[in-house]
Amino acid sequence: MPAELACFEERCRARYPITEVIYNCPRCGGLLEAVYGKPAQPAEELKTLWRARRGSNAPLDQSGVWRYREFLPFLSEYQGVVTLREGNTPLLEARQAARYGGLERLVFKHQGFNPTGSFKDNGMTCGVAQALRLGMTRVACVSTGNTSASMAAYSSAAGLQPVVFIPHGNIAYGKLAQALEYGARTLQVEANFDQILALVRQLAERIGIYLLNSMNPFRIEGQKTIMLEMMDQRDWRVPDWVVLPGGNLGNTSAFGKALREMRDLGLIGRLPRLAVIQAEGAAPFYDLLRAPDRSRLIAVEHPQTLATAIRIGDPVSWPKALYEVTCSGGVVEKVTEQEIADAKAIIGRCGIGCEPASAATLAGIRKLTAAGTIARDADVVAVLTGNVLKDPDYIYRYHTGALEAPDGTRIMPNFGNSPKVVPNDADLIAGLLSQ
Ligand code: F0G
Repeated sequence: MPAELACFEERCRARYPITEVIYNCPRCGGLLEAVYGKPAQPAEELKTLWRARRGSNAPLDQSGVWRYREFLPFLSEYQGVVTLREGNTPLLEARQAARYGGLERLVFKHQGFNPTGSFKDNGMTCGVAQALRLGMTRVACVSTGNTSASMAAYSSAAGLQPVVFIPHGNIAYGKLAQALEYGARTLQVEANFDQILALVRQLAERIGIYLLNSMNPFRIEGQKTIMLEMMDQRDWRVPDWVVLPGGNLGNTSAFGKALREMRDLGLIGRLPRLAVIQAEGAAPFYDLLRAPDRSRLIAVEHPQTLATAIRIGDPVSWPKALYEVTCSGGVVEKVTEQEIADAKAIIGRCGIGCEPASAATLAGIRKLTAAGTIARDADVVAVLTGNVLKDPDYIYRYHTGALEAPDGTRIMPNFGNSPKVVPNDADLIAGLLSQ
């Protein structure tokens, strides 16, 4: 079966050619996904092939996305693919974080090691490859920061013109700086993420720009490789839990799809459970899972969190994410600003570090182990989605006791590490350091 786009809605499942420029099902408005027939090779052969490619110097094989191309065969040829060697992110064991989270052992899959410092690169190399294949010249996204940084880099590298739309005053400086440096035309809109997404969807059609937000199914295909690479690195031993932050819920959708497809192809024997963690002030998915009627998500009109990456009140991919959390026997938890900030400092103390949204994972784990949902001896992988340097302002404020939650309450620097100003005096400094 050739690659096709299919409507995700069970009652519709309409199919479209893989090269149609659509973001939602023209028939029912549902989300779209890429679907394929089974790869020609059996599971064991694929595992051997993918492992062997790690030793290759071919750019495509060096990519932690395209190395697994049999798992996302939406292109008919690979000549135009632009790779910045995305993926290839490590699994890092963190003892102090495990203790803090109430676990015997905890491993982070750190997507902040990507070329632009977030998991968006896994998806963007695919989204941009599709844009090139479709003959597009301009691409656009709405972003809380990381998508814009990634899209700016990949589209510029591919010779496409990037246009990014970001909520004015509500993205971390590291991310804004990247969009500028990578040459994106950058529009800071005076509205929140959800409002801008509605605006840009209208604009895309009107001025013929290709949209690279995560409802773009090719982005989701690329993000599947985060789970594939994780399993490859674990020699295909399935963890009990995969914990990740939830914003627009593209990653939750991608991880779930990847895990189901791996199971269906016989690459793994069972599914790990997904635990999605949201910030308390932007937790519509958490609310949905507890609502009597799960057929409609009630948006949070004014989402608030210092973890700006996940400051989203109306997540586009919620139907897919709901399906994946349900299929995996997963859970959704929410955490406070203080919990995120403290968890982030602990991840920092492990010598690992991450941006605020990523730290929601450890804060969520702590809550879920305390409640007995995750067992102390469970095999847990938490996905850190963004690099520590994305939001240095947050870090400085936390450690110096100057961080305030959106409602004005002060975040306590429970694990603070404030710098000290000292005179240029050796005796004094020696005295200070001997204490
Ligand atoms: N973590 C980070 C660092 C992110 O940048 C995002 C999303 C998420 C988690 C949430 O992932 O949307 O797949 O549930 N950032 C998007 C952006 C929205 O525009 O960069 P999700």
